[in-house]
Amino acid sequence: MRVAIVGATGAVGHELMKVLETSSLKFSELQLYASPRSAGSTLEFRGQPLTVQATPEGALPTDLVLASAGGSISKEKAPRWVEGGAVVIDNSSAFRYDEDVPLVVPEVNGEAALKHRGIIANPNCTTAIAVVAVAPIHRKYGVKRMIVSTYQATSGAGQKGMDELLAETHKVLHGQDAGHQEFAHPIPFNVIPHIDVFQDNGYTKEEMKVAWETRKILGDESLLISCTAVRIPTLRTHSEAITLELERPATPEDIRELLATAAGVEVRDNPDQKLYPMPLTASGKYDVEVGRIRQSLVFGGGIDLFVAGDQLLKGAALNAVQIAEDLQR
Ligand code: HSE
Repeated sequence: MRVAIVGATGAVGHELMKVLETSSLKFSELQLYASPRSAGSTLEFRGQPLTVQATPEGALPTDLVLASAGGSISKEKAPRWVEGGAVVIDNSSAFRYDEDVPLVVPEVNGEAALKHRGIIANPNCTTAIAVVAVAPIHRKYGVKRMIVSTYQATSGAGQKGMDELLAETHKVLHGQDAGHQEFAHPIPFNVIPHIDVFQDNGYTKEEMKVAWETRKILGDESLLISCTAVRIPTLRTHSEAITLELERPATPEDIRELLATAAGVEVRDNPDQKLYPMPLTASGKYDVEVGRIRQSLVFGGGIDLFVAGDQLLKGAALNAVQIAEDLQR
């Protein structure tokens, strides 16, 4: 099998290469594509330099495309890659809401990927991280309502987001005013409750993605979800505070026991030892950390928890490679 990464020079492309280095996916060739600006540069894979090519207009000479170049490129080019015989695992939101495109988190609805018609969508990072923790709870106790507050790292906006945090923080520390380009306001020493564009209902698109995509992945359109998505001045890993109203009451011990054996989850929950999920500990990890598990004071029998997951891994590159591994099994 031949594999191509489109968007190889971006933050997710970089992580795709790292995950592929140690993945069980068997492939004979890795092709790297990016914008014409990056064409000709080389990236190292398993100790060998690989040359980045400009993404061509038409089909790609490959069997599997891992696309992370943005929605407009995927929208335009993915149908041509599929016509050329490739399966596309797309990290953008271009096809996520199409009925005939599976939206897949392997630990939760991996079997959905097998029904693909050429394109499989990788979920929004915040959603992928949340559902790894919430799906086992939904399966056993039935989630009725879900309230999410996110704390999203600057790398959610790609390498430019991280660069902006570092450069603008440096300015502030040297007594200069911080500017902003990637974010709606200066990000150093700030939190910004605004990610992506505002919708007519007052929520942002990022917030609505959590609602739309969680329902699609869990296969439950009756699930009520409200999200507040916030950008914070960290480099990597998205964290989320989640409150769940349940059909059948659960205790924190029930949830700890359930999640202890859940795929893709690391329970990190010991307040006495100051042990809970944080970007500091979750960054670079494949599993999503879950902790601060407690009985909700609002919903009888409900649960509050906190998760932190590396959004460039489980929220993007790792999830895509896991889908590819499952397809090859
Ligand atoms: N939209 C996310 C963010 C990126 O801005 O953090 C991951 O999908």
